[in-house]
Amino acid sequence: MALDIHFTSAPLGHEIAGVDLRKLDDDTFAQIEKTFDTYGSIVIRGQSLTPQQQVDFSRRFGPLDRFVLERFNMKELPEVFVLSNIIENGQPIGMSDAGRYWHSDMWVSDTPPRGSMLYALEVPHRGEEPVGDTCLASTAHAYDTLSQEMKDRIENLSAVFSSKLYAQFVGHDTVKDIHTKEIMEARKDIQDRQITHRLVRRHPRTGRKCLYVVEGVISHIVGMEPGESRALLDELLAHIVRPEAVYRHRWRVGDVLMWDNYSAVHRATGDFEWPQRRLMHRTTLSAPTLAQAA
Ligand code: SIN
Repeated sequence: MALDIHFTSAPLGHEIAGVDLRKLDDDTFAQIEKTFDTYGSIVIRGQSLTPQQQVDFSRRFGPLDRFVLERFNMKELPEVFVLSNIIENGQPIGMSDAGRYWHSDMWVSDTPPRGSMLYALEVPHRGEEPVGDTCLASTAHAYDTLSQEMKDRIENLSAVFSSKLYAQFVGHDTVKDIHTKEIMEARKDIQDRQITHRLVRRHPRTGRKCLYVVEGVISHIVGMEPGESRALLDELLAHIVRPEAVYRHRWRVGDVLMWDNYSAVHRATGDFEWPQRRLMHRTTLSAPTLAQAA
């Protein structure tokens, strides 16, 4: 049976209705995976998943990664990374403030994960309104909608992404990330890393061209004069996240939101604070391998 897809006005974040992720036949799963690959972010509401059921569904996409800070992974099921601002017995039960800048995950790596799945167990509210939204934008659609002149200009350009710049950037007033230092300490191998990526990368599964720009962490475009480089990076990011291209997910308990780490960037709004409670379980799909690539 064909999936019941409710399209948003943005290029991504479309909702797949009428499925129970605990019991999917292979054909329905194949259609979900295709929809995910095609649009780069999907939403499936009204789910009721134990951590094991979330892991089981996630594994249908392939192997899973563990989050770098082990203390925020579930002890009994370390593939589940807990995102939460809840404190129990004086200890945070999860990481409170992940990703409040436009990014794709693990840009510091040569082999970033394929994508992630976030499942909502508790959603903060201000009055009747949910807060703590997650925003997404399609880097594939962004590439497709560039002028031919801009596509030609950036086709062979590469940019330098820097861990040091990231650490400075997330310390900035508008982006608080109290765990950056801890992450950097846990991953000494990437602490001082500068990594060069093409500004245009091909999606490893679909072959689509995607823009590869992350907010605040790119020091420069290789071979370009600093002013020109900054202006071009700002222009590309502004194009990716222009308001009409952004999907803003307003959470409800039981929502599953998935994003593709190559064809989408995401940003947590983080506009809530204790005693507004937020609890999410995240699983991370490992980098696509050749065998997995479509
Ligand atoms: C993330 O980048 O994994 C966090 C997204 C969110 O908390 O909304």
